[in-house]
Amino acid sequence: MKWLNLLALLASAVSIPVAFGQYTVPPGSPGYLLGSSTQAIQFDSHSLLIDGKRVFIWSGEFHPWRLPVPQLWSDVLQKMKGAGFNAVSIYIHWGLTEGKPGSLDWNYYRSISQFYEVAKQVGIYVIARPGPYINAETSGGGLPGWLTTIGAVARTNQTGFVNAWQSYVKQFSETTSKYQYPDGPVIFVQSENEFYVSQAMNPTASPAMALLETAFRQNGISKVPLTCNDVWPSGNFASGLGQVDIYGFDSYPGGFDCSNPSVMPELPNYYVSAHASADPYGFMYLAEYQGGAFDPWQGPGYDGCEELLGSDYSNVFYKNNVASGATAMSFYMTYGGTNWGNIAEPAVYTSYDYGAAIREPRTLSAKYSEQKLQGLFYHSAPALLTSSILGSGAGAPFASNAGVFTTKLGGGGNPTNFYVLRQMSNNITTPISTSLTIDTSVGSLKVPQFGGTITLAGRESKILVSEYKFGNSVLRYSTAEVMTQTTIDGSDIVVLYVLAGQNVEAVVPSTATAATVTGSSSIKAKISNSDAIITGTASGISVVQFGKTTVIVADKATAFTFWNPRTVASYDVSPTVPSVLVVGPYLVRNASISSTTLALVGDTNGTTPLTVIAPAAVKSVTWNGESVKVSKSNLGIGLSASLTKNAKTPSLPKLKNAKWKSADSLPEIAPSFDDSTWVTANKTTTLNPFPPFSGKIVLFADEYGFHSGSFVYRGYFTGKATGINLSLEGGNNFGYSAYLNGQFLSSNQGFFGAVQINDTLTFPANAVVSGKNVLTIVTDSSGLNEDWNSNDDFKHPRGIVGYKLVGGGDFDTWKLTGNFGGESFPDNVRGPLNEGGFWAERSGAVLPGFDDSKWQSASPFTGISKAGIQVYRTKFTLSVANGVDAPLAFKFTATPTSNYRSLLYVNGWQFGKFISNFGPQTVFPVPEGILNHKGENEIALTLWSLDAQGAKIADLELVALGAFASGKEVVSGLVTSPTFQQLRT
Ligand SMILES: *[C@@H]1O[C@H](CO)[C@@H](O)[C@H](O)[C@H]1NC(C)=O
Ligand SMILES: *[C@@H]1O[C@H](CO)[C@@H](O)[C@H](O)[C@H]1NC(C)=O
Repeated sequence: MKWLNLLALLASAVSIPVAFGQYTVPPGSPGYLLGSSTQAIQFDSHSLLIDGKRVFIWSGEFHPWRLPVPQLWSDVLQKMKGAGFNAVSIYIHWGLTEGKPGSLDWNYYRSISQFYEVAKQVGIYVIARPGPYINAETSGGGLPGWLTTIGAVARTNQTGFVNAWQSYVKQFSETTSKYQYPDGPVIFVQSENEFYVSQAMNPTASPAMALLETAFRQNGISKVPLTCNDVWPSGNFASGLGQVDIYGFDSYPGGFDCSNPSVMPELPNYYVSAHASADPYGFMYLAEYQGGAFDPWQGPGYDGCEELLGSDYSNVFYKNNVASGATAMSFYMTYGGTNWGNIAEPAVYTSYDYGAAIREPRTLSAKYSEQKLQGLFYHSAPALLTSSILGSGAGAPFASNAGVFTTKLGGGGNPTNFYVLRQMSNNITTPISTSLTIDTSVGSLKVPQFGGTITLAGRESKILVSEYKFGNSVLRYSTAEVMTQTTIDGSDIVVLYVLAGQNVEAVVPSTATAATVTGSSSIKAKISNSDAIITGTASGISVVQFGKTTVIVADKATAFTFWNPRTVASYDVSPTVPSVLVVGPYLVRNASISSTTLALVGDTNGTTPLTVIAPAAVKSVTWNGESVKVSKSNLGIGLSASLTKNAKTPSLPKLKNAKWKSADSLPEIAPSFDDSTWVTANKTTTLNPFPPFSGKIVLFADEYGFHSGSFVYRGYFTGKATGINLSLEGGNNFGYSAYLNGQFLSSNQGFFGAVQINDTLTFPANAVVSGKNVLTIVTDSSGLNEDWNSNDDFKHPRGIVGYKLVGGGDFDTWKLTGNFGGESFPDNVRGPLNEGGFWAERSGAVLPGFDDSKWQSASPFTGISKAGIQVYRTKFTLSVANGVDAPLAFKFTATPTSNYRSLLYVNGWQFGKFISNFGPQTVFPVPEGILNHKGENEIALTLWSLDAQGAKIADLELVALGAFASGKEVVSGLVTSPTFQQLRT
């Protein structure tokens, strides 16, 4: 044991918070510096402390770059805050930021300062995770494509790699340093990601981590802890070289089998012991805890993931984390977004919905509500943040039924106890009843005492409390769960819930002489021996009032409609910050009180009853700025109103009836095509670790600065070759088509798991000419591999990786192209990955403002009758009403027997890659801002028919995925993005 650890042990024993930010020890030395500190952020083995106050971190993952409309970021963050999320965890994407070595661009959707400003405005902490390696199911795991050409091994301390990330880490740190709490919302900076040290595989991993940490510190990350996200609670970077301040680990115990969403895995049972040995001096921080699942090509689609990792999963698994002692957890993902513009790595497709709590179109899923109930509770239970596990087991001494497993948490100098109950297996889908023996200030009690039972449905977990403080009142115990508490006008309010029809028994010591029940009469209350005794079954909302105390009992479905916004701007969402209760709407984003008016901002999806419980001084209420007529609520507390604003689903144009213009997007097959401006492939050696390439010339696209989408090659040879042996790589499902002197040879559709395709193509005798022959190959890529094992896997080449003419001779020249400009791409808004190398992309035909007037009229629904690539363009106008949030999507009609690939460009942004035979995605949401909801839109669609019989698109429709009368930030037209005229002329 090192002396620093000894001090940490001492600190944990006497509960002195550990400070950091004085991490001046050189890399290679372990440890935090201990003692009193002026730092705003501290921690001990129980929890994080911010400004000296313990805080539960209920965080969700969101990647701003997967929603490239900064005016929608506040929408996602407000939705998160509504569900009790007090932190958002973000990956920052090196590859999107530094498309060309040395040219970094932190503007537009890459603007971390703008994101921090939005988070500050909303009042939500930020956990910044800049990598530089992030994994994230993104191309190269976030490493730039140009990194494939350096000799140094990525994620090591090799000089070439360390030099490569210097500018990125420096600029990230300098910007982020200005937003460290309390100057801004950033509370943690995570170094690297899922970086596990395997001595055999990567003996330099820890020095690599230490170098990174030093760079963060030296460039301004001096006030907030550095954290890590260990791939498993194995203790990497909890000590030793590369040690971080706060150790975190990730866990995905729900699995990824979205095809069998009703099969719920069992709970992990190793967190307590694994964490105790991995990180004995820190609190349990689940830096990435499963909040959904990615779906691979040919997967079942994201609705299955949302069901598999849905509200039952959130209920049982997240409460199990609390039972394991976790006081900080971040869900991956909470908003997934979109792999637009070649952001995806080869395993995944365009949607990155992830089955998350907030779905890709920014709509709320069922589990969002479950997460809200838990999030609000954890912030309302400060005693949880000093508690320890006091016992656990099936049946006795806690539950009377051996089918119930209980974990008791408590201690830490206050009398509150928490009992986390669940059934013995997640296979059980039937309810079970029990009583529970609990500790209270009047001794041990077996509850319920006055009849009835505690019921757990299948896959239901409950956290029940005893001696739970709310304001000046104390809940001696409750067999219903606590949602939240607030104190209004000196009166203490607690909200309890159980599933409809389940029994409730709650006792609150009180000096009052009588208790009244208003609202639903399914709950009764009386005062007996200085106790308010509340019993009954939950149905709707019952309000029990006695003295200066109010207990609200709701059935769980009704509790889902409760909101508890703070009425003053604050990151702190604990009960010490004034709040109101709002019941009814789809979403409450914000609340503020000015003299006698309560101003609420939120969303509705139809006529909605509204109830507010606010200070008595509040006489009027506004909703999204308009006053609503309020009357005394028939609940016996608060004010009621009806929100009648209806959001009309917008009428949408029929794309099948639109005027489409069309052009050939594969002119490169013509022998006369002028490729003189293309790159001449001239490399005969490469530092890439994944040769052998075969052939004289290295044809890896990345070697020539092309890192995304598709590539076109033209190889010239003379002589009498009769065929070619061709090898290509492009990731899962990549395909290619080959032409000789304009004549179609063949295609390969690719497959899932494709690393390399090796084909022998035979040249038809009539296709070979005696002089100069030109072979044209068009191929696409599903992104660069990730680098999970730190073994440079992301360097797997893309494009042609080997060639040999059959029948003698060799190529005289190879020309190739990819995205327009390669690394010197001109579109600094949409960034380095948006475009690929199809003619339609290079020529700018996919951009708004392109002049297609000379093109023929032809529609993708007619398609083409041969192998080839065709591009189609159309325009339409939208006029979605003001104040309406109507997420829109493009919906392809699936034709799995057809072999074609389409790219969908919306106003120049590639927002869909549809492969007819590799689904599953047919519906492609496109956010407002990429789509102009109030004006003209230009669409370009490519249709690559890989087969000689041709292809057509059965149908493509514009559909609305909802319509909400919304108080979200207004998106002003299109995001700033350049036109054809600005990019190609
Ligand atoms: C990388 O770390 C290893 C192990 O500590 C060390 O031997 C080596 O010199 C380091 N390399 C560089 C370039 O610093
Ligand atoms: C739950 O069901 C799965 C799949 O049917 C099975 O493998 C597992 O053993 C079951 N677990 C328990 C605890 O019964």
